Amino acid sequence: MESIKIFCPATVANLSCGFDVLGLCLEAIGDEIIIQKTPKKGIRLTKITGADLPLEPEKNVAGVAAQSLLNEINPDFGFDIEIHKKIKVGSGIGSSAASASGVVFGLNELLGRPFTKKELVYFAMKGEAVASGSEHADNVAPALLGGFTLVRGYNPLDIIRIESPSELYVTVIHPQIELKTSEMRAVLTPEISLKSAITQWGNLGGLIAGLYTNDYGLIQRSLHDGIVEPLRSKFIPNFDLVKEKAIECGALGAGISGSGPSIFSLSKGFETATNVANEMRKIFSETAIPFEVHVSKINPEGVCIIN
Ligand code: HSE
Repeated sequence: MESIKIFCPATVANLSCGFDVLGLCLEAIGDEIIIQKTPKKGIRLTKITGADLPLEPEKNVAGVAAQSLLNEINPDFGFDIEIHKKIKVGSGIGSSAASASGVVFGLNELLGRPFTKKELVYFAMKGEAVASGSEHADNVAPALLGGFTLVRGYNPLDIIRIESPSELYVTVIHPQIELKTSEMRAVLTPEISLKSAITQWGNLGGLIAGLYTNDYGLIQRSLHDGIVEPLRSKFIPNFDLVKEKAIECGALGAGISGSGPSIFSLSKGFETATNVANEMRKIFSETAIPFEVHVSKINPEGVCIIN
């Protein structure tokens, strides 16, 4: 294979109770990356559309992720990389993770698959760190593996892919203001009380159990975040109202998507997810803030080759 075109899906990280460990992969929203093998060694970012991002590989999420993979392999040829961004930077639905995951997946294919998808998470995280200032895997893991993923541990990296109930739908609203992940991480308190931790890990365990057993009631009871959401939600216009209305419409729960400003909700069934989307649109139509709304199934495959 001499060249490859890749779909790099958007993702929702944290999912309320799973800060830095839980994420899911979306269908239908994603970037595209085209990679071409070249006789000249090394990597070159030849074109980026849809966002104003640096072409210098060492300053670019995809460039850093690609280089970290090539450091392990050192092939005697190189790669030209084009990135077409459809996911807005700073949107909270894994824009940097899509670039990082897509590029390492594509390189791996062109190199004859020396790494498994789970092994690629490590390289993608190196790129993710350029954007967020920290190596978190809760966007890159679902982008690469699809479905829901749990980062059981970071050292060593231990990623678990979780099947999702078939009727589960995600609704996401992206109010188009930019919140930088690095800044949204800086507002967090490094220490939490034992009481908060107990509530949070109870909910995380409940959510995982609910996903495995298709228990929508348990998923609903578990979608809470008493640690991160109270500190970040004030940066997101209409957050409380959107969450309240989503739940009124029948959503199982709602919260901040990644580090925001996007807000996600999970619903049982397409109809409820669509009602939630309409309610979100109504709320933001009354503001001057441009927005996009997506209703999506969980993407079981993750990053993939397209023609
Ligand atoms: N877990 C990360 C954070 C996700 O919330 O900072 C960023 O998309």
